[in-house]
Formats: sequence, structure tokens, C-alpha cells
Amino acid sequence: MNRTGGLPTNPLRDPADRRLPRVPAPCALVIFGVSGDLAHKKLLPAVYDLASRGLLPPGFVVLGFARRDWTDADFEAAARDAIQEHARTPWQEEVWARLAGNLKFVPGSFDDDDAFDRLSQTLDDLRESHGILGNAAFYLSVPPTQFPVVLKQMERTGMADNEASGGWRRVVVEKPFGHDVQSSRELNELVDHVFTPEDVFRIDHYLGKETVQNLLALRFANTLFDPVWNSNYVDSVQITMAEDVGIGSRAAFYDATGAARDVLQNHLLQLLALTAMEEPVSFSADAIRAEKLKILTAVGIPEGDQRDLYAVRGQYEQGWLAGQRAKGYLEEEGVPPDSTTETYVAVRLLVQTRRWGGVPFYVRTGKRLPRRVTEIAVVFKKAPHLPFAETDTESLGNNQLVIRVQPDEGITLKFGSKVPGSAMEVRDVAMDFLYGAAFTESSPEAYERLVLDVMLGDSTLFPHAEEVDASWRIIDPLEEYWAGHKPHKYRAGEWGPKAADDMVAVDGRHWRRP
Ligand code: BG6
Repeated sequence: MNRTGGLPTNPLRDPADRRLPRVPAPCALVIFGVSGDLAHKKLLPAVYDLASRGLLPPGFVVLGFARRDWTDADFEAAARDAIQEHARTPWQEEVWARLAGNLKFVPGSFDDDDAFDRLSQTLDDLRESHGILGNAAFYLSVPPTQFPVVLKQMERTGMADNEASGGWRRVVVEKPFGHDVQSSRELNELVDHVFTPEDVFRIDHYLGKETVQNLLALRFANTLFDPVWNSNYVDSVQITMAEDVGIGSRAAFYDATGAARDVLQNHLLQLLALTAMEEPVSFSADAIRAEKLKILTAVGIPEGDQRDLYAVRGQYEQGWLAGQRAKGYLEEEGVPPDSTTETYVAVRLLVQTRRWGGVPFYVRTGKRLPRRVTEIAVVFKKAPHLPFAETDTESLGNNQLVIRVQPDEGITLKFGSKVPGSAMEVRDVAMDFLYGAAFTESSPEAYERLVLDVMLGDSTLFPHAEEVDASWRIIDPLEEYWAGHKPHKYRAGEWGPKAADDMVAVDGRHWRRP
């Protein structure tokens, strides 16, 4: 059987034509931890959105597994709630009716052999009853500590075996992938032993965001930007991922993780790699990953005394956000009162290549900041000479190209323009590209795109094990340094600790106010 699951290919459709909608082969999507937050907010709504776009295969089942005393009908009711609350596309009874008949549930805990035997048996039965052809994608929507036990259960029951299933078996592992280089290597070894390495999909949902993919189009489909995309013209790059939310009900996970491991190690370093990488030789998964890997390997972190200045951690204290009092991190339910876990991190990274030599990449992320915004700002150098009087250009800043990842997805180009009138005054103006205005289609959700890619077996948007490894090699020494220092404090509703402002100020720069 071929790896598309044995479906005949349509001779009128060129499979290489990426403009055509791609529909996966029949399969099951098995979700471990289906009663959790991620399944509720993202995965089940994503499945519904795919169904309403006609992108699910004719034979398809969502097989949920969790420690709940649920029947198929209970799972169906929970899925309905999740979809009605969080799906992107409008609710349609006929779409739901098609999907609802294909939701199955197996109760059990991860150390329960009988439950996994039942799961394996159910998968076998679904071949006949739902025509899934032996294909299955297993989504590990479970705490990282549970990955090994679930993987071992899959190995024991033979569920991960492509040969025995007669189709394909793939696994999706949620981030953070490991806790440091060592644990991530151990996990890699295990997952690559249980599954075939090409069937392992390490998810970083930022890569599924339309705006992030557009970064590659912006850079490599145009002639305009490449000539200035280097240290001759770029002064610095600022990558910001700000969130207004706190840690919600995730205290146990978050307190053991912190902002650096939660999002810097993955989302932010991936954004940096896509911004800094060279043009890939093709748009294949291997070619893109190879370029990202080169950048991650070339990242230089602050060392010695420089760390006090350029590697800043913060933790929010109580404050005000959108007119409401917001608790401090230490008052959040489930957080130990003496926790030193960071909820904010800002670091100056260097990309030690010819293209980027000497250009600082300032990267920051935090919870309970004034608003939710993610952006990449490429700040250009000032013109070496201006033929105007100094007073004419007092309001002229650096040219900037800002990729707005979210919200208000789009791109802004900031440049100087003459203020109308008889005087000569040059001031910054902005030229905006807005997805909502330029396209009639709305963007798919990141998880919608990535769940579809897993079923299609397309790993382009999933980081490779070597990228994960290289990212931990950036984070580990920083964590080691931070372990001996308490985080700075910042008030909820402020843009992070003062130390983060000082970090850019000593370089004669300031953070953009997104
Ligand atoms: C997740 C982090 O990966 O990304 C969360 O674990 C964070 O802490 C979330 O809130 C943010 O995702 P998005 O897509 O809302 O920016």
C-alpha cells in the first residue's frame, strides 16, 4: 500500500499544484487528553472547521481518549459545546450531523493497559465500520511528563506500527518538547524509536499562522526587500509576543515551565529563524528546515557580565488591566507564594552570520502586558546624510517594516513623508497592508492548517528534531544563569520590567510601542 493510504490519485489534479485544496486519505484522528483545554479550544473546533470547508476525508473518525467516565454521547455533547464556543466557521447543523456520527470515545488513564488494548481494538474495528484504511494520527494533547508513558503504550499495543496497520501511523507532539537539551534528546530517541522519524510531527502552532507563513512569501517572492535585508541596512530587529492574559488555570504547567521554555524556546526562536534565514533551495520541508537550522545554530546569546543587561526575566505583580484589578503571579491559584518562575523574558540575541553580523535581535514576551500583540519589526538604519535642516526632520524616526502576526494581521511600512504645507517638515507615516482588506477569504486557524497537514503527511510547517535541539542549546545556558537570580517585577498592565527598557536603552534604542 502506498503512503497516501492506497487512494487512487486523480489524473486531472496535479498533486504538486499547491493552489488546489488537498483532502487527506481516510483516517482516524486519535486525541489523547481530549477532555483538556487544547482539545476544547483548538483541536475539536479545528476539526469542525475542516469539515465545514469540505477538507475531511470520506472515512474519518475522531477517537478521543481521556480519564473521564464518558460515553460516545457524552463526548459528542462536549465536542458540540467546544465547537459552538470556539469554531471559526459558522455553525451548520448538516456539517455537525456528519461529524457527530464520527466521534468515538475510549475512557482510560495512561497507565491502564486494558484501556490501551481497548483503544487499539477500537481502531481496528473502525477500519470496517468507518473505512479508515488503517490510517491514524495520534495527537498527544497531554502534559509533557506524560509523553513517555503514552508513547510506550502505543509501542506495546503495536498502534504505532505502519506495517501492521497497513496504512500510516503518525504522531503529533505538543510543545514544549522536553525541558532542556538532555530531556528533549531522550524524548526524541523514544519517539523516533516508537514511530518512524518521518511520521513524527512536533507542533509549533505559530508556524501554522497565516502571517508567519507570509513572512516567507514577503521575503522570497519579492525583489523589494532582499537587497536591504542585511546588516548594511538593518539597524536591529524587535520580535514581540505580548499577551494580556495571565496563566489562567495552567498554574501547575506554567510554574514548572516559565516564559522562556513556554514560548521563547519555540514560537519566538522560530519567528527569528524565519526572519533571518537564507532563501531555501526549494519550498520543501527539508530545504526550509535546513535554513532555519543554520540560523538557530548561529544564534549568539549574552555571556558573562552581559547577561545582567541583556537577559532579563520578569514576573508580574498585581496591577490594572483594561480597568480591572489583575492579580499578581504569586497570588494566582496554584502558584507557590515564593515562586521565582518568570512570566516575562527579554533577551538580546545576535545572529552570527555575514548577513546579520552586528545586528541585535531583541526578543521579548510576557503575560499580563497591556495588550495581546505579536509582531516582528525590522528597524532600518537612519540615512547617512539628510539634505534638510535639522529641525525639518525632528519627527523622523527610523524606517521600519512591521509584520503584524496578530491581531490586525498585516504589514506596516513606516517611512518619512513631507507634511503638507509651505514649510519643509518630514514626519513618519505608515503604509498598511491588512489581510482583511486585501483578501475576501478569512485565514484558517493555525491548528486547522496544522491538523490538516498532519493528515496529509506534509511536515513543512513542523520543526525538525535538530531545530528543537538547537533551540534548547540557546535556552539552557540562559536558564542556568537565571536559576541564580530572582526575576525583576513588573506591574500587570505595564510593558514589562524597567530592566527590559534599560536593555535597549544602553544600546541607544527603545522598544516599539506596538
Ligand atoms: C502557547 C503557550 O504555546 O501559546 C501559551 O503555551 C500562550 O502560554 C499561547 O498563551 C499563545 O498562543 P496565541 O496563538 O494565542 O498567540
